[in-house]
Amino acid sequence: MSVVGAVQRWARGHTEQSRYSPVGIAFHWIMAFLILFQLGWGFYASWVPAGGDKLWVYQVHSAAGLPVLVLALGRLGWRILIPGPINDADRQGWQTQIAYAMHYVFYAAFFGLPLSGWAMWSSIAAPGPLYLAGFIPWPQMPFDQMPLTLRWWILDAAEDVHLLLVVTLLAVIPLHVGAALKHHFWDRHDVLRGMLPEIPDMEDPREDPPHRPPEPRSHPETAPG
Ligand code: HEM
Ligand code: HEM
Repeated sequence: MSVVGAVQRWARGHTEQSRYSPVGIAFHWIMAFLILFQLGWGFYASWVPAGGDKLWVYQVHSAAGLPVLVLALGRLGWRILIPGPINDADRQGWQTQIAYAMHYVFYAAFFGLPLSGWAMWSSIAAPGPLYLAGFIPWPQMPFDQMPLTLRWWILDAAEDVHLLLVVTLLAVIPLHVGAALKHHFWDRHDVLRGMLPEIPDMEDPREDPPHRPPEPRSHPETAPG
């Protein structure tokens, strides 16, 4: 059997239980953490006065943001290979459609934010080299031979895209998190459980049957008395 077939079979073992695969779960929570950090740090960066730490603050912002682009490529590939599970949220008509639309918006942001940030960084007289995760050298986009007016135009457009995606995320993330919590606490659906790492539930007899003393087993015909 091919490696891809074996991976798909392994992942189906999870998705057929209405759960995301451990790889899908890792992508989700690592990227959710990075994006939330970047939103906070990005606003902090724009408030820091020019000079002093400002360059370092933006270097951290770019170092933590570029991995989002690499992870987005991996996650999209994984999602194409391994479709998400069918869970209780998939039986809700228009709400399901909105949830799917939100997932597309998230993927657009996963690519659009680092790409526009990278374009901004590359269009101005480079304020310093770029590093993925702070230590892997990352190239500039090839804008340095372009006329200055074009570079200013790219800077302006990339800034608009970055801000538009930031504002979109600020609107959509609370809806996404609110919907996940509503499914879990209000509707008692399996949606959030399917996105959390699997922890064997000691209380759930289906997952971990308690040890009982064996029943006395004797055939009626051979039983004494
Ligand atoms: C991947 C997720 C990212 C998120 C969520 C994010 C978020 C933000 C936020 C909230 C701001 C402040 C608001 C604004 O001015 O738009 C900002 C500004 C900025 N970000 Fe990002 N960012 C990300 C990635 C990146 C990357 C990878 C780079 C560079 C390689 C970058 C470069 C910049 C720059 C240069 C600014 C200042 C823009 C300005 O002065 O108007 N960002 N970002
Ligand atoms: C912090 C609280 C969060 C919670 C409780 C949460 C919960 C969930 C749940 C339960 C699902 C499964 C939905 C379904 O199958 O219908 C999901 C999927 C998803 N979430 Fe979140 N999420 C959170 C944050 C985020 C953030 C910050 C982002 C991105 C900015 C995000 C992006 C996604 C995407 C793209 C999916 C689709 C699944 C995939 O393609 O891997 N989530 N989330």
